[in-house]
Amino acid sequence: MVKSAVKRIGVLTGGGDAPGLNAVIRAVVKSASRVYNMSVVGFENGFGGLIKNQARELTEANVGGILPIGGTILGTTNRDNPFHYPVTRGEEIIYSDVSDRVFENISIHGIEALIVIGGDGSLAIANELYSQGLKVVGVPKTIDNDLSATDQTFGFDTALATATEALDKLHTTAESHHRVMVLEVMGRYAGWIALYSGLAGGADVILIPEIPYDIDVVIEKINARSKEKKKFSIIVVAEGAKPKDGEMVVKKMVEGSFDPIRLGGIGDAVAQAVELATGKESRVTVLGHLQRGGSPTAFDRILATRYGVGAVNLVAEGNFGKMACLKGLNIESVPLAEAVGELRTVPTDGELIKVARQLGICLGT
Ligand code: F6P
Repeated sequence: MVKSAVKRIGVLTGGGDAPGLNAVIRAVVKSASRVYNMSVVGFENGFGGLIKNQARELTEANVGGILPIGGTILGTTNRDNPFHYPVTRGEEIIYSDVSDRVFENISIHGIEALIVIGGDGSLAIANELYSQGLKVVGVPKTIDNDLSATDQTFGFDTALATATEALDKLHTTAESHHRVMVLEVMGRYAGWIALYSGLAGGADVILIPEIPYDIDVVIEKINARSKEKKKFSIIVVAEGAKPKDGEMVVKKMVEGSFDPIRLGGIGDAVAQAVELATGKESRVTVLGHLQRGGSPTAFDRILATRYGVGAVNLVAEGNFGKMACLKGLNIESVPLAEAVGELRTVPTDGELIKVARQLGICLGT
């Protein structure tokens, strides 16, 4: 057993789920109890559980068997920000700071430090709690892979595998019917899932938010393929992709969510424009939440496990206000403030973009 000043920790999963959350929880519980003799309390449904005191003890026994399982045994939400929490006053709903409840519940459970597993929204809240005196450590989660300060978030690799498998399947039906198949993938304001899956799945066109597209260039590419006697085409569109001189397509607004904007619908716009201009039958598949579900890949299981162990080590070292991160091949740490400062988007002059262009993939410009 290694000595740690902290003997009891809390853990929660916040924001949209991602494959590998359970692997982090398992690694936190196992390494905390085995190495440091710490006990662990799991808060349910993100910061909601911290505000409403919904918590349970987590032991090695109750995290057994969860490594390959998608989702999170703790539940999650992208609402319930303790600094902007909806409270009913008479007829009205007003948003208040209820962070005192968080500190109260932390103290009720005798918790000395909290591990927050989340994306930019949850980690920004974690950082705010840290600045108010809570001992917090973060773990970077999101299928979007858009957190700066880490080379990769867990969940991305699984989402990528799902999108790539979808492209493989779309290829065969596209070929049979001589169609243009458009796959709309998630990723919010970053094109990582689209770019990686497009490369892995052999797409002919990849449209990402970082490179606003010219639809005429896309149409030219589809026509050029016809001239080369290619009977079908595959287009991957990130949900955040937008035409030059145009806007992202907002599907709906979710009031009370960390980021209320929900993107979606650009795949339809691209397919319609292509069909109209080329006369080629075009179909759209919106992959949606399939990208967030299912069993994590081996890579994500390992990365998530390393993050869980890394976070516990940070707690034991008293290294608070930090996020475990991947730098090259190593797990390191960065200040939470740095981690949530800006989104990590695809560099438009990066190597992968050059690779795509060199292969003749159309990026819309
Ligand atoms: O951030 C993860 C993510 O899946 C995005 O890719 C997507 O835009 C969003 O969450 C969808 O959120 P929700 O599950 O609330 O619809």
